[in-house]
Amino acid sequence: MAQDQERTPLFTALTEYAARVRAPLHVPGHKLGRAAPPEWRDFLGPSALAIDLTEAPGLDDLHAPEGVIAEAQELAAAAFGAWRSYFLVGGTTAGLHALILAACRPGETIAVPRNAHRSVLGALILAGLRPRWVRVTFDAELGIATGPDLASLSAALPGAAAAVLVHPTYYGIAADTAAAIGLIHRAGLPALVDEAHGAHFPFHPALPPSTLSLGADGVVQSLHKTGGSLTQSSLCHLGHGSRILPERLQEMLRLVQSTSPSYLLMASLDLARRELALRGREAWERALELAHEARRRIDALPGLRVRPTDDPTKLLIDVRGRGTTGFRAADWLWEEAGVAVEAAGLTYLLAVLSPGDSREQLDALIAGLERLPAGEGAPVLPPEPPWPEVILPPREAYLARKEPVPLGRAEGRIAAELVAPYPPGIPVVAPGERLTADVLDYLRHAARAGWHLQGPADPQLRSIQVVEE
Ligand SMILES: Cc1ncc(COP(=O)(O)O)c(C=O)c1O
Repeated sequence: MAQDQERTPLFTALTEYAARVRAPLHVPGHKLGRAAPPEWRDFLGPSALAIDLTEAPGLDDLHAPEGVIAEAQELAAAAFGAWRSYFLVGGTTAGLHALILAACRPGETIAVPRNAHRSVLGALILAGLRPRWVRVTFDAELGIATGPDLASLSAALPGAAAAVLVHPTYYGIAADTAAAIGLIHRAGLPALVDEAHGAHFPFHPALPPSTLSLGADGVVQSLHKTGGSLTQSSLCHLGHGSRILPERLQEMLRLVQSTSPSYLLMASLDLARRELALRGREAWERALELAHEARRRIDALPGLRVRPTDDPTKLLIDVRGRGTTGFRAADWLWEEAGVAVEAAGLTYLLAVLSPGDSREQLDALIAGLERLPAGEGAPVLPPEPPWPEVILPPREAYLARKEPVPLGRAEGRIAAELVAPYPPGIPVVAPGERLTADVLDYLRHAARAGWHLQGPADPQLRSIQVVEE
């Protein structure tokens, strides 16, 4: 395999085409950069624009691949341990949409953990599915979801068409996934995995296993997040023995992806795959060493502690001991130290390391954390969001005629939008769910506490979109 993995069929075909073509009488209209805005051409350099091409001779077709794209995808499948791999130019979002559309028929039920990313909810809306929500376990100190509750998952499986898992969570927690896949398979269902944050897992034994190695049927990975490819480029895989038919998945990918997929994005997948396959282990060894050093150095700082995570390169820094919130700490680090972290919550900062980081970045983080001002007292953790009462399928509610109503007059109405405060990043309400007094109390609490609210049309949540009656 090592020999094959040296090859970059798509990137090579693009550079050869750019060198050979004398008269590119086709789109894109910038014509290999010649008609691109000058400062853009200077900024990117001539090479990037010269391979920003579309289906030209020898460059294959993402939607019916037979040539260099087919070969590049086969190399990706071999490198990631998949049966089939597909290039995505619409991020993991597009892959989850296609996979869920491929696995289920309209009106069917699907088991979904309550901490699933909003792209999964998007898939339920597109596919017209009924969610059977799976409870999640919590880290009670930080107030973040850690994984699916296996008893709740078991209860959600009978009669469902498929089940979704998140591996790892945004915070690098990957507990119980093997057991969860076992439960799903024993129920005879396909396990569909959102592995957005795990594209690097197959390439170092100290990282959690990739779910392809655990028998998952369909897996989507944001190679752009941790694998080194360009933003928006991802991979959708079918596992060996997958219960999902490649032809059906390809059909759904045709539906959700552009007819003009970016060759720059696809070439970046081809090259990132080669690097991971041939040099991924050394690269992630360096990142892991840096992560272990980061943990030691941060743990030595007063009031700060790095939580253990299954993926050690996710530095989940508990800031409660400094009497501050993660939000304030993140703002301060950016304003005063030029350090930008991946995410912040009430109780934590999340810093992400990769082979692209070195001692220099780590030193900047440590120097910033050393000077981080102490606050007035530890933040009060949110309670767990109330359990939802599902009335309509998300599609019906989301696409219904809707109207905004003030929170004070919303009790009993059916939500037509998602509201997910961070943390814990779990929907308090999803389209189709009843706005009960408990749900509204929780939302008021979240709005007053100034949590970042994902989803609502009115971000201050003075009003909420409900299904018109
Ligand atoms: C857990 C999870 N799933 C899916 C996605 C969507 O991935 P993408 O941005 O590649 O579309 C994200 C993005 O942040 C995510 O965090």
